Amino acid sequence: MIDFIEVHNNSASAKIALQGAHIFHYARKDEKPLLWLSEISDFEVGKAIRGGVPICWPSFGMNNSDLPQHGFARTSEFKHLATNEIDANTTEVILVLKHSKETLALWPYKFELELKVTVSDKLTMELRTTNLDEKTFKITQALHTYFSISHISDVRVKGLDKKPYLDALTNEQLTQNGDIVFEKEVDRVYQEVNEQILLKDKDRTIRIKNEGSSSVVVWNPWIEKGKRMSAMRDEAYNDFVCIESANAFDDFVEIKPKNSHTLKAVIS
Ligand code: BG6
Repeated sequence: MIDFIEVHNNSASAKIALQGAHIFHYARKDEKPLLWLSEISDFEVGKAIRGGVPICWPSFGMNNSDLPQHGFARTSEFKHLATNEIDANTTEVILVLKHSKETLALWPYKFELELKVTVSDKLTMELRTTNLDEKTFKITQALHTYFSISHISDVRVKGLDKKPYLDALTNEQLTQNGDIVFEKEVDRVYQEVNEQILLKDKDRTIRIKNEGSSSVVVWNPWIEKGKRMSAMRDEAYNDFVCIESANAFDDFVEIKPKNSHTLKAVIS
C-alpha cells in the first residue's frame, strides 16, 4: 500500500498518493466522483495506479525510448510540501519531486517538478517544471485524467470540432468533424486546442480548460485493448474516458536553465 493525503472541505473531497502525486479521487460534495478509479488497481510501490490523474512526465507515451512509457514521474515518490486551508471551501496541496541519483540515471537533467492541487468545487492542477540544470531540456507531458462516466455509449466530447489530430492507431493526420463519440478504440492527439472542452454525459457535463498546452489526448481502449490493459477489468472501458491535458509530440516544451513552465488544467 502506498501513502496518500486526504482532503475534505465544505465543497469537495480528494485523495492524492505521494507516489506519482497521483490524484485518485475527487468528488464535489454530495456528487458522484468525477475521476474513474479501477477497483482492481494495485496500490503497489513502483506500479502506476490505474485511474485518477497519472502524471506523464518528462515524456508522454514512448516519445523518449530511453524512458518507460509515460516517463518516470507516475511511479516516483513525491514529497508533501504543504497543505494550505485557503478557506472553508478551498484546500491547496503541494507535492514536489526533485532529481535524484535514480532520475539522473534515467534522464540526465536536474529539475524540480511541483504539482499544486486546488480542491474546491473545481479541481485545479498546476504542474510546474523548473530546470535546475546548466543545459536546456525538452519535455512532453500530460495530466492523464480518467473521467468517470455513466456508460461509454452515453458520452460525447465537444469543443474539438475542426481540430487537426494525429490518430495514434493509424498514424494518420486527420481533422475532427463534429463531436467525438465512442464506438471503437480511440487514441488521438488533438492539436492547436485552446478552447474549453466539454464531456457531455447523460446526467452531467464536465468542463476541462487547459493552459500552457495546446494538445489534448482523447483515449478509450475499447474491447480488445481493454482486455490487454493492466489493472483493470475487461469491461472497464465502458466506465471511463481519458481526456488528457498534454504537451505531446510537436507541442513539446523547451525549458532553459533556471526557467519554469506550468501546465494547468481546471476541471469543473
Ligand atoms: C494513453 C495513450 O495516453 O495512455 C494510450 O494514448 C495508452 O495509447 C494509455 O494505452 C495508457 O497507458 P498506460 O501506460 O498507462 O497503460
